[in-house]
Amino acid sequence: MSIDTIWQLYPMPAQEVGLKGLYLRHDLRQYGERLGRPFVYTNYVTSIDGRIAVPRSDGPGMVVPKDIANDRDWRLFQELAAQADIIISSGRYLRDYAEGKTQEILRIYDDPRFEDLGRWRAGRGLPPYPDLAVISGGLDFPIPSFLTQSGRKVIVITHAAADHARRRILEGEAGHVITAGESAVSGRQAIDALGALGYRTIYMATGPHVHHLLLADGVLDRLYTTTVHRLLGGQPFSSLVEGDLLEPPADLRLNSLYFDPHALGGLGQHFTCYAR
Ligand SMILES: NC(=O)c1ccc[n+]([C@@H]2O[C@H](COP(=O)([O-])OP(=O)(O)OC[C@H]3O[C@@H](n4cnc5c(N)ncnc54)[C@H](OP(=O)(O)O)[C@@H]3O)[C@@H](O)[C@H]2O)c1
Repeated sequence: MSIDTIWQLYPMPAQEVGLKGLYLRHDLRQYGERLGRPFVYTNYVTSIDGRIAVPRSDGPGMVVPKDIANDRDWRLFQELAAQADIIISSGRYLRDYAEGKTQEILRIYDDPRFEDLGRWRAGRGLPPYPDLAVISGGLDFPIPSFLTQSGRKVIVITHAAADHARRRILEGEAGHVITAGESAVSGRQAIDALGALGYRTIYMATGPHVHHLLLADGVLDRLYTTTVHRLLGGQPFSSLVEGDLLEPPADLRLNSLYFDPHALGGLGQHFTCYAR
């Protein structure tokens, strides 16, 4: 079996499929257009014991565990991000960015491995980058100039109780600040507001609390996971959803399942897509 291929286990029958292009073939842009509403999806890489983030070794804060991050998952992450009209991020991401702790989400113009994804967007008449939505209550981050200079719209989504002075500063820097909720951002109101601005294909690329607010309001359409065949243990850690009990629970159906036997020097991982 070539290193470029993986096993599709579901839908059945099992077959060998290419890794490159796997999630492009999910053709996510069709759904928002067809449904006439935003189509919202997310993706996590996790260990078998559910760790998506562990404490940084170089200071405060959490980071994706280096023992599960891998190129093959990163390729699929880029394919998901490249299909979006807008990527949902958080105040935490922009704070980390300002401190040099994190990088641009979409790497399709500065990493030659992903050049085809830039062409993929151009071929569909899409702007080079998806716009960026930033969910935040604290509003304590700067809007980096690389975002606005690259022609992207930055939309800050906050709640009515957020600091008014901070809000005005961000309005000056970003231009768009939306209120979606009274004392916390509501998933439903946030997605409705993005829908009203015309966004149809929305990729949520942030952590477990933003994931929770989308699940609690039933506005997440697809969850993609990469499960690396490794257990990490350790405390504290983040799992892929954190917050109050979801009532009712968020039920998802299996859309597809793939086994990648080549990841991490032959250890393996599986890719799962669940749909609402
Ligand atoms: N393994 C993976 O695939 C994966 C994927 C994504 C993230 N991660 C990791 O997970 C860790 C946590 O990620 P994260 O901090 O981005 O995610 P998060 O815990 O979902 O969200 C963090 C920020 O979002 C804002 N927020 C969340 N819920 C809100 C609400 N209801 N109302 C208003 N604002 C709200 C807050 O911003 P303010 O503080 O500005 O108010 C909060 O600091 C990070 O270490 C990240 O690297 C891992």
